[in-house]
Amino acid sequence: MELADYVRALRRWWLVSLAVAVLGAAAGWLVTSTATPEYETSTRLFVTAQTGATGGDLVQASTFAQSRVASYAELATSGAVLERVIADLGLQETPDDLAEQVTASAPDDSVLVDISVVASDPQQAAAIADATAAALSAVVDDLETPVGGGVSPVRLAQVQPAPVPTTATTPGTTLGAALGLLVGLLLGLGAAVLLDVADPRLRRAADVRASGLEVLGEVPRDPALRGHPVAFAHDASARSSQALHEVRLRVQRAAAAGSVRTVLVVGTQAGDGATTVALQLALSAAGSGAAVTLVDADLRHPAVAERLEARVPYGLTDVLDGSADVSQALRRSRGDLPGVVVAGPPPRVPSDALRSPGLRKALEELGAKADLVVVDTTPLEPFADATAVAEVVDAVVLVAARGTTRGRLARAERALRAADARVLGVVLTRMPVRGPDAVPVFSADGRRRRR
Ligand SMILES: Nc1ncnc2c1ncn2[C@@H]1O[C@H](COP(=O)(O)OP(=O)(O)OP(=O)(O)O)[C@@H](O)[C@H]1O
Ligand SMILES: [Mg+2]
Repeated sequence: MELADYVRALRRWWLVSLAVAVLGAAAGWLVTSTATPEYETSTRLFVTAQTGATGGDLVQASTFAQSRVASYAELATSGAVLERVIADLGLQETPDDLAEQVTASAPDDSVLVDISVVASDPQQAAAIADATAAALSAVVDDLETPVGGGVSPVRLAQVQPAPVPTTATTPGTTLGAALGLLVGLLLGLGAAVLLDVADPRLRRAADVRASGLEVLGEVPRDPALRGHPVAFAHDASARSSQALHEVRLRVQRAAAAGSVRTVLVVGTQAGDGATTVALQLALSAAGSGAAVTLVDADLRHPAVAERLEARVPYGLTDVLDGSADVSQALRRSRGDLPGVVVAGPPPRVPSDALRSPGLRKALEELGAKADLVVVDTTPLEPFADATAVAEVVDAVVLVAARGTTRGRLARAERALRAADARVLGVVLTRMPVRGPDAVPVFSADGRRRRR
């Protein structure tokens, strides 16, 4: 993933990320506000060995003390010392419990023993530290006293009493909330990326390309497409006209390269915008001077006759059942408009009607008289009509609205492959013009437009 992908994921799922971050901050605040505060203090003991005053004696004494301090530090958390502390302070704890609160260490090459204590009460922490220092002194004194009697050669002196800590070592609620927020932000980013990766919907051309299909165009969501198709085709200022123009060029190029005459335009499901693409493809190609025929093979919801206001006595179904021939059903092109074959009277079983050999023959006849025959039909799901048409055309343009699932696109491709169709590519429709997945919108002169 590139940085841009993270940014896009965040822009799309920012609300989830924000919620996770806020939850993190709240959790941090809650944990710190309910946790018992802890206070830490420390004290230091200085170890001296009692010797004579000559230089040699001093060196010897210092070496002796240094060799012992590590052991004295170990002793500080022993039962012998801590039992004394408990007795001195009248604590309710066991030596093992207290050992959890006390740590002792001897810095290297020194004659010092550092004792630090953690407790939930600051006074108590200082008291335990002082008592531990005193108890350690006493225990060492006992241990180092020669067996035959006499005085211990070492003395442990507390350098200064343990200070009463004024601030807790556990984080305050502000810090807790801030740490929680930080963790929440990271988790929120992770959640956004995960959601983005797991999203089964097609959002960008790259999602389609990832499934191995060519993208012929990305048509923006455009309310102008609801108007009259011919008026739209003449309006180069519409938001989606450049994208549709591009689709036409690419289809014409592919058609020319692969000697393709008949092209089926089909949606993955109802409302993808297939009829709109088919109409604009035919109108645009006709407008460029090509001889184009548009055939409405959507026998369930025919739309071409109504949208182009084409009144013809016969339609495709009349040709298929033999009650008319192709020339009777074809409304010839006028000016820069395509010729039209409307759907005709609805048959009882549309997919059977389309599967009749008459369709191939009719399309061949129309193809012989035109440079390009554009066929509109029922979406691939849930009926088998489209695959019947796909079997007899030269190539297919698949139309998928943004938000179509990858699974549906894969099913559409499988169905077309099973029909031995040549898929030129996918036209993505209803693409956003704002937000993280916005497609660029160009005006007729090629400049990038602000929507
Ligand atoms: N890019 C677009 N932006 C906005 N509206 C669109 C777009 N493409 C199509 N529409 C509108 O969506 C509706 C359905 O489009 P259309 O009839 O082309 O879809 P279809 O796939 O042929 O559907 P059907 O399953 O009915 O055949 C129409 O009102 C059309 O104007
Ligand atoms: Mg349609």
